[in-house]
Amino acid sequence: MVDFGCTPQLDLEFMNREHRKAFDDANALKILLDKALKRRLDNRLNPQPEKVLESEVEVQIKADLSDSDSVKIERLLQRLLLDTVTHFELEEQCMEEHCFAARAEHSQEHQRVLQWMTQEHSLWIADCSLSTITHLSDYAADKFPNWLVNHIVTMDTVLASYVHRHGGRSL
Ligand SMILES: [Fe+2]
Ligand SMILES: [Fe+2]
Repeated sequence: MVDFGCTPQLDLEFMNREHRKAFDDANALKILLDKALKRRLDNRLNPQPEKVLESEVEVQIKADLSDSDSVKIERLLQRLLLDTVTHFELEEQCMEEHCFAARAEHSQEHQRVLQWMTQEHSLWIADCSLSTITHLSDYAADKFPNWLVNHIVTMDTVLASYVHRHGGRSL
């Protein structure tokens, strides 16, 4: 997991705030996915004796546990997506207000990443399997945070320093 404290801080506080939120969302998602993965692997390695599953009530409890994981993961994926939409909208609004020259390229990159995130979210809606949990865990712990760090030190740094030099105020 990426530590927000170790990532470069930008000249505009609203951007730092949105970036911290994105890392927090991704870390929370990673923790929950790891828990779900461990629970499912434990269930596979230590299957309950047949008699435990004889009762319909016990079968229902088992189903509810995995449903609960699914719903929590779904909520965190939704939160990451909505927070990212807000994060990108705020930056795009800032670019428009300051007539930032590279706003088209920067916004295109945001759109690309939102499409990617939506695809990852769709995987979970279609299939909550072990392989999807593993795939999303890699997305939450590695692929998305690495993209974000790279975006912060390139496009976002250029934007923040331009706006700061031109009298922009933090939102
Ligand atoms: Fe950003
Ligand atoms: Fe950005």
